[in-house]
Amino acid sequence: MLFSVVNMSLPQKIVSLFVISLVVSVASSEVKEKPLSEYIDRFTLLTGDALLQNANDSNVVFSPLNIYHAFSLLHLGSNQKTREELSSIFGFPENPENDTNFHAQLNQTLHSLQNLKDVTLAAAVGVFARKDLKLKPLFLERVKSFYNADVQNVDFSNTSTTQYINSWISQSTKDHIKDYFTESINPATQLQLISALYFGANWKFGFGKTNTQKEDFHTGYSLLKVEMMSEMSRLDYGDDPKYPFRILGLPYKNEDLYLYIQLPREDPKSANFANNFSAIYLTSLEAVETLKSNLVHVKLPRFSINSKISLENVLKKFGSTQILEAPQLSGMFDEKVDKLEVNHGVHIDVDETGTEAAAVSSISLMPLSASIPEIPKEFFVNKPFTFFIYSKSLKTIIFAGAISRVE
Ligand SMILES: *[C@@H]1O[C@H](CO)[C@@H](O)[C@H](O)[C@H]1NC(C)=O
Ligand SMILES: *[C@@H]1O[C@H](CO)[C@@H](O)[C@H](O)[C@H]1NC(C)=O
Ligand SMILES: *[C@@H]1O[C@H](CO)[C@@H](O)[C@H](O)[C@H]1NC(C)=O
Ligand SMILES: *[C@@H]1O[C@H](CO)[C@@H](O)[C@H](O)[C@H]1NC(C)=O
Ligand SMILES: *[C@@H]1O[C@H](CO)[C@@H](O)[C@H](O)[C@H]1NC(C)=O
Repeated sequence: MLFSVVNMSLPQKIVSLFVISLVVSVASSEVKEKPLSEYIDRFTLLTGDALLQNANDSNVVFSPLNIYHAFSLLHLGSNQKTREELSSIFGFPENPENDTNFHAQLNQTLHSLQNLKDVTLAAAVGVFARKDLKLKPLFLERVKSFYNADVQNVDFSNTSTTQYINSWISQSTKDHIKDYFTESINPATQLQLISALYFGANWKFGFGKTNTQKEDFHTGYSLLKVEMMSEMSRLDYGDDPKYPFRILGLPYKNEDLYLYIQLPREDPKSANFANNFSAIYLTSLEAVETLKSNLVHVKLPRFSINSKISLENVLKKFGSTQILEAPQLSGMFDEKVDKLEVNHGVHIDVDETGTEAAAVSSISLMPLSASIPEIPKEFFVNKPFTFFIYSKSLKTIIFAGAISRVE
């Protein structure tokens, strides 16, 4: 189990960092912040590669932005080698003098995102410390002022605590993530850092609810019957043979945000299209610039996916083992830490939502004029695909994923 804790008999002291993200349907915006992209890009690539390498037939969804924020919390409390490693992986400042500026900038970005029109983005940070653990005042002050953290002391030896933290998570994600911890939290835990992200937005165009029907989805391993949404609309479409995929951009109501879908040209049986996330991601960013507005008949499965992943392999991919095995976190508290666990959970729902709104505000809703018959491009997402939700102004990927199975 990804979220199971280490064997109870090990006298290890554990700090867990849980990153929880949630997407409900989709959305858009107008932010003019300094791009976080410089830092996040490289990190997104390596993370995607590490996560997809062993994913096989399963789905992977992650939020680069959310993971980045969660590690920045860790950075606030780290020192020595851990601080160095975090700095080199994420581009966090090495010199403590620069911390205030840096975290203030992240705070600003998150605030901008949270104030986007027509998008609900809510970030919640919970710091749950063992009841007698003395957190350092500077760390406390910073997690509260920069990340608006909810800091609490809890009794990890009390089995009700697991349920208590589950409720906190459920509340922070508007009840979309319930019972996050399926097993009792290890009583040896010193601290749990939890970063939860809720994201909900409506399509600018809409999928007509009455168009949805059961259709085939070829995983490459099996044939599934899925709820396939369908709509005809004018959308950003790309079919340049130099890319190994066709690409479609679905706008959210806040037009700064798009869901980009890459549909590989190759047969789904080869099923390894997503293994090189770097290649897909980089060429997608290039391809996105070349998309043309086209009449498109789009079919997209309605999907609701829970993805729970350990980020340990990601850190290892960056060449870091020290952070996991002997983290130096004396910026947070004085006790020695034996092990750091880092997990990331995302819930994403993509459905027709936005249809009602589209009736009022949509510009792109189909009707094709009778004068010039335009042959619609077909974009049928009936086999494994990748996607990302991208802020054009921030040049930042908020969510990314590779979907192999839709149930
Ligand atoms: C994916 O497949 C490889 C090779 O068949 C296997 O070693 C690995 O354990 C699989 N990964 C998962 C997550 O199932
Ligand atoms: C870090 O701080 C130093 C001195 O305050 C400053 O010269 C430098 O530009 C800062 N670096 C960053 C990346 O902000
Ligand atoms: C974080 O951003 C908000 C909104 O801009 C601001 O009011 C607050 O002062 C910032 N906090 C810090 C510590 O900079
Ligand atoms: C465990 O926590 C619950 C809920 O906070 C509390 O009612 C109960 O008394 C606690 N048990 C012990 C043994 O402290
Ligand atoms: C992934 O694609 C990139 C860009 O095409 C290439 O440089 C890299 O070697 C590829 N990696 C693997 C593992 O195939």
